Amino acid sequence: MFMVILFVKWASIFNFCGFGVYDKIMTCDMEKVLRTVQRTLIKYHKSSKCSVMYVRQNSVWTNDGIIKSPFKAIQVPNCTLYEYVWQNLERWPERTLSVCAITGRGYTYEQAFKLSNAFAANIRKKLKIRDGDTVAIMLPNVPDYPLVSLGILQAGGVITTINPIYTANEVHRLLQMSETKAIVTLPELVGVIKNAFALAKIEIPLIVVKTNGESIPEGTIAFNDLSEDVHVDTSCLKEVRRSPNDICFLPYSSGTTGLPKGVELTSKNITANCEQINEPKIQLYNETTATHQDSVMSVLPFFHIYAATVLMFHKMSHGIKLVTLPKMNPDHFMNALEKYKTNLVFVAPPLVLLMASHPAASPKTYRHLQMVINGAAPMAPSDAERFLSKVQRKIRFNQGYGLTETSPVVCVAPIDSEDYSAVGPPVPSTQVKIVGTDGKPLGPGQTGELLVKGPQVMKGYRNNPKANSEAFADGWFLTGDMAVADENGVVKIVDRIKELIKVKGFQVPPAELEALLRGHPSVKDAAVIGVPHPTKGETPKAFVVIKDNANNDVKDICNFVNEKVAAFKHIDDVVFVDSIPKSAAGKILKKDLKAKYC
Ligand SMILES: *[C@@H]1O[C@H](CO)[C@@H](O)[C@H](O)[C@H]1NC(C)=O
Ligand SMILES: *[C@@H]1O[C@H](CO)[C@@H](O)[C@H](O)[C@H]1NC(C)=O
Ligand SMILES: *[C@@H]1O[C@H](CO)[C@@H](O)[C@H](O)[C@H]1NC(C)=O
Repeated sequence: MFMVILFVKWASIFNFCGFGVYDKIMTCDMEKVLRTVQRTLIKYHKSSKCSVMYVRQNSVWTNDGIIKSPFKAIQVPNCTLYEYVWQNLERWPERTLSVCAITGRGYTYEQAFKLSNAFAANIRKKLKIRDGDTVAIMLPNVPDYPLVSLGILQAGGVITTINPIYTANEVHRLLQMSETKAIVTLPELVGVIKNAFALAKIEIPLIVVKTNGESIPEGTIAFNDLSEDVHVDTSCLKEVRRSPNDICFLPYSSGTTGLPKGVELTSKNITANCEQINEPKIQLYNETTATHQDSVMSVLPFFHIYAATVLMFHKMSHGIKLVTLPKMNPDHFMNALEKYKTNLVFVAPPLVLLMASHPAASPKTYRHLQMVINGAAPMAPSDAERFLSKVQRKIRFNQGYGLTETSPVVCVAPIDSEDYSAVGPPVPSTQVKIVGTDGKPLGPGQTGELLVKGPQVMKGYRNNPKANSEAFADGWFLTGDMAVADENGVVKIVDRIKELIKVKGFQVPPAELEALLRGHPSVKDAAVIGVPHPTKGETPKAFVVIKDNANNDVKDICNFVNEKVAAFKHIDDVVFVDSIPKSAAGKILKKDLKAKYC
């Protein structure tokens, strides 16, 4: 015991003298020694002043393998998301909130607020939206998106989002699961939605946003008739009772396995996440002042949590301009960077590739850029370097990491970081740990599954106790991502254990494609895995067992699936096999398929 205590004291003394011995100890095997020392100490000297905690005080790693955020804790706002977003409105009423990069159509903050108010009052009054009712938004990034979103919240509703390229089959399932009471869309998507209504056997109000003065399809309501109704009596909004702990956003995610599940995010979850990324060392914006307004490139879709929180809700709380692009068109994107002087650009890996290789990639095109943040999927550092070589000046380039289930931000690399392979340490008030297959925490440099705890973690999956019990362990959310962290708690995402396939950063749940494949008359059994793809990141590959004497036409099988799902989920790679490898419990052994065929 004496020796042990002496050792601890030495460490403290060295640390005290500023030798930084502690860091060195942590990086070698002494980590283990220290843990043992500490356990012994705690056991025998519960009240001892000679505390190992002192020695460890500079570390973000705790004794039980938890990585704490190195940043100052936040206070979770005690207000609804609606109140949070508009809280500083009077500071920038004349500033542009949103503008379409193609048409120049857009709104100032004050216009948006007023129109959104009238829309809220009308959906409550005329469409009978009540507190806690779900309203779906199936829109690309149009300048009206924030108005629609905030209006739904103000009316007491819960937003659910649908990818505008989804098929009727996909839409109908989401409408059923979310029990949507009304849907907001574009005129050209009304056909798909009506087919979805037929499949779901529902009839709900269909609101359409006109983007170029077109007439609206029969049986629909024009968004602008609801929002430009200056005579609407807004007193009905006084009845709305929404608490910061109520769910306000319900995106669908596949989670670690299986089919899409409703992710219940409360106002507190999302506003906490906004506060977390306000931390000065990672600050993802600049203050709007009399002479400055950030301009953020909004091409990542708002229906995805990354853009909804980080590009829309958070940026609106700071009076920032959203330059919206409804579709990913490389030329429009490059052009908008210059024309709208976008200084903040949030990207996913395919956009980094584009910005590194487009013919217009030049210091001139990029002269307004100040900050580029990559998220949604891991990126090769070499792509970042290629892009930066086209900028030819020092700008901020960082990666972040998050999930739908975490509102989304978990980690962001700080402003001064130039490590393009890392996603940074956990954001304020967030803890992560990396555990082995036995669930025991690992130390620096060891790879395992990343677990998260923080105020931004979802309340849970909607109506899905089974998925919830699988997603949480002792209050920790299991991300399904493999990660490794260094002594400073800087995290790198290494791989994914979850089966989810990510095509261009979008979730493709294999279970969904497998179910569709098994619906084909010739198919006996099927499995789908993700395989690496040079531009998409990953792409689905199908393994199919054909029924005896049945026709094995790859094209026919692909068409059968592809006509039911959005383009990014399309299968074009099918391998016929005699059987699908399965565990005793009947679970598909995807690792075996990967090992054998990929
Ligand atoms: C949050 O606000 C509500 C209503 O304004 C108030 O009753 C409650 O005490 C507040 N909670 C905290 C923790 O401040
Ligand atoms: C997310 O918000 C809800 C209610 O505001 C809360 O119950 C839940 O615990 C939050 N998540 C965390 C991890 O605090
Ligand atoms: C914020 O402003 C500072 C000072 O003008 C600048 O150096 C920095 O790049 C800006 N940050 C962003 C994210 O635009």
